[in-house]
Amino acid sequence: SDPDLVARAAAAKAALGSKVFVLGHHYQRDEVIQFADVTGDSFKLAREAAARPDAEYIVFCGVHFMAESADILTSDSQKVILPDLAAGCSMADMAVLGQVEAAWEVLADLGVAEQTVPVTYMNSSADIKGFVGRHGGVVCTSSNAKRALDWAFAQGSKVLFLPDQHLGRNTAVLEMGYSLDDCVLYDPHKPNGGLTPQQLRDAKMILWRGHCSVHGRFTLDSVNDVRERVPGVNVLVHPECRHEVVTAADFVGSTEYIIKTIEAAPAGSAWAVGTELNLVRRLAMAHPDKQIMFLDRAVCYCSTMNRIDLPHLVWALEELVAGRVVNQITVDPDTAHHARVALDQMLALPG
Ligand code: 13P
Ligand code: SF4
Repeated sequence: SDPDLVARAAAAKAALGSKVFVLGHHYQRDEVIQFADVTGDSFKLAREAAARPDAEYIVFCGVHFMAESADILTSDSQKVILPDLAAGCSMADMAVLGQVEAAWEVLADLGVAEQTVPVTYMNSSADIKGFVGRHGGVVCTSSNAKRALDWAFAQGSKVLFLPDQHLGRNTAVLEMGYSLDDCVLYDPHKPNGGLTPQQLRDAKMILWRGHCSVHGRFTLDSVNDVRERVPGVNVLVHPECRHEVVTAADFVGSTEYIIKTIEAAPAGSAWAVGTELNLVRRLAMAHPDKQIMFLDRAVCYCSTMNRIDLPHLVWALEELVAGRVVNQITVDPDTAHHARVALDQMLALPG
């Protein structure tokens, strides 16, 4: 990265001292991650944000829904900053509040809303988390989806899982013993989600038709191809990947799990990793004694994560030094209150 910008970022951070805390998601660029006080997956970063009551400014190098969650979990006097407001998440955008309310109406009309517990992946807007909090549900991340679903199925007999169909299906089927037939796919663009009343009544897991455009790119062919090219390779993927990819993989888990698994792997072992490319490249650099490769032949960055680059970070930090707060992310108090209920429920999950 540009040495001048590196020096400017370092100087601005030094000038702000303990007033600023920089959080960096594992999918961020190297040029940005070097300035993170803490790196993590979305669960760890939510906890880290909540654990920094003394930082006046939380600069969130990640995407919009993560900054919203940080705003909800921090005190009113703390300000959360997203260095580029265009850093959204296509998966989070696939569940809009009006659509989810309409789906809930469908369930209510069938008389099954009362027994349904809404569970939303962290990768959703604050509005959706607020909806889930209002209806007795919980937020989950890829590191605690099973615990969240265990909790939800202790509250009701049916789950509406938002917005990532893959995390919901993979967790229910591969970790909890539900069958594929227990899951139905709710398409918000079709009347009644494209499902019959009987399907909605029978389903255990109503999966929202959302997905991650980055992890959704890996296919069964990617797995078969790497196994052919690299005999003995271990395939390690994120649970946002399609069901057939996760089923064919050797290991599955959140970004934090992926990092720990690679760290613990013996020298000389070979790993094909199905997650965002910035993280895979960093893992390969950090472990030259292991053979670490990207699961697919095509490059696969998260384009919105990548919007946070060093120029944007420098700008946000220098503005703070000048006493100006730019790109602050705020959630309205009513939404924040209900979203916090669902987030606190997640943070209180046992285990
Ligand atoms: P985790 O950070 O929970 O592993 O999620 C991955 C992701 O896609 C974040 O946007
Ligand atoms: Fe969203 Fe996927 Fe990017 Fe994560 S990797 S921010 S889920 S698009």
